[in-house]
Amino acid sequence: MLKKRLCALAALLSLSAATLAAEVKLVVKADQAGPVIHRNIYGQFAEHLGTGIYEGMWVGPESKIPNVRGWRKDVIGALKALHVPLVRWPGGCFADEYHWREGIGPRNKRPVKVNTNWGGVAENNAVGTHEFFDLAEQLGAEAYVNGNLGTGSPQEMAEWLEYMTAEGDSTLAQLRRKNGRDKPFRVHYFAVGNEAWGCGGNMRPDYYVDLYRQAATFFKTPPNNRPIFIASGGTGHQIEWTEAIAKRAKGVPVDAISHHAYTLPTSDWAKKGQAVNFPESEWVSTLANAQQIDAMIRENVAVLDKLDPSKKIGFYFDEWGSWYDPEPGSNPGFLVQRNTLRDALLSALHFNVFHEHAERVKMTNIAQMVNVLQAMILTTKDKMVLTPTYHAFAMYVPFQDATSLPATLEGNPVYKVDKFEMPTVSATAARGKDGKLYLGLVNAHAHDAQSLTVDIGKPVQAARGQLLTADKMDAQNELGKPAQVVPKAFEAKASNGQLKLTLPAKSVLVVALEP
Ligand code: AHR
Repeated sequence: MLKKRLCALAALLSLSAATLAAEVKLVVKADQAGPVIHRNIYGQFAEHLGTGIYEGMWVGPESKIPNVRGWRKDVIGALKALHVPLVRWPGGCFADEYHWREGIGPRNKRPVKVNTNWGGVAENNAVGTHEFFDLAEQLGAEAYVNGNLGTGSPQEMAEWLEYMTAEGDSTLAQLRRKNGRDKPFRVHYFAVGNEAWGCGGNMRPDYYVDLYRQAATFFKTPPNNRPIFIASGGTGHQIEWTEAIAKRAKGVPVDAISHHAYTLPTSDWAKKGQAVNFPESEWVSTLANAQQIDAMIRENVAVLDKLDPSKKIGFYFDEWGSWYDPEPGSNPGFLVQRNTLRDALLSALHFNVFHEHAERVKMTNIAQMVNVLQAMILTTKDKMVLTPTYHAFAMYVPFQDATSLPATLEGNPVYKVDKFEMPTVSATAARGKDGKLYLGLVNAHAHDAQSLTVDIGKPVQAARGQLLTADKMDAQNELGKPAQVVPKAFEAKASNGQLKLTLPAKSVLVVALEP
């Protein structure tokens, strides 16, 4: 009997301990403005890869699928609603095999090549410079052009820049006009090569820096159309590319270094893990791996802080996102994967970290926009579906150009499954352009709701916004079926100025606070 009572008491004590541990507090320094969260942190990437551009976005002006000068109306309309601020093109690995002269002039006269990187399919160059800028202009987005260092030359890159930006009567400016564009294109960003450590030429960092210096010497654009020049950096936890570029790329413009960070459930490129039907351990491993982005930034920014103390060089990510085993039955070279609630949380975890490092991280591109890897939109012929990732991006729109605010979590429990663990809650806070204080919150726990008290140093009356969650970890939106992952309106009233939020299990919440 006594043993039974003791057991009951122990159970009660452990329950109250669990309840206490579950009480998380978010403290926001609402009067300490941090750096502005550049809207281009929400940039996108469109590569000549699979159906990412052809079919997914570009159908050609003759298509029966409604389009504007070849770009699908449905897909572009949905992307516009996301306020896509920036698009990177034409690659990725494709960029280092792309020759811009093959993508101008009458489309039926352009050469057909083999896309050796992605599935060995025919590349008819239908989308070239003019079509890309039309896409950017239809979206109201800035343009990021990735130059070809791998199989190109300084001359080819310099002439492409001249073709796009020259105002006078040079032969290249006249050629652009003959091809239908009178005024120069606005090139906001220009990168020299991509993944020079791999598909971009298997180079050593120092060798790349020499080539960068050589090429950048010849980049001449009108002063009002000077792109931000980007050196292609390393990947994951590497720091040697950042170090070599910051140390040795002198005498030429280097405005930023762009790093890559893909998240795999298993960290094993040979067997990455499935996009759907995964165990809870892979839910946690994926989200915990996603949070490595914070360490990657800290490690590289520490290098930059030593070599570039005046903080002239930005640290960007022109590719990030989830990468799973390809969808069974698809062409493995097309990088098709399903997109689930897990991807929505993965995105929000990245956003929260990017905001924290807004001082150096002023541009990132998720890989990729449509049909490839962690896409916003999946298309099948003339139909399309908005993914959970799309909704996470939409919910975080108020953070574009918002002013970051210091936010700390107290009593944040560890969420652990097998050997994988991570903090349960992730949070960000910012003052939006509309003057409102926004919170972006993630509860990564697959089963437990989490209560959170919010302290912003003054009373709060309510929080209103949108909540994204679903019953299953791998809930997804599929054509012909009711969407399982869509944001729902959320409202919480404060009591005596004290705001307490309940974050459902596996959820993303974005709210504006009402004073
Ligand atoms: O986004 C797909 C590919 O991933 C890119 O082409 C390349 O840069 C990276 O390895």
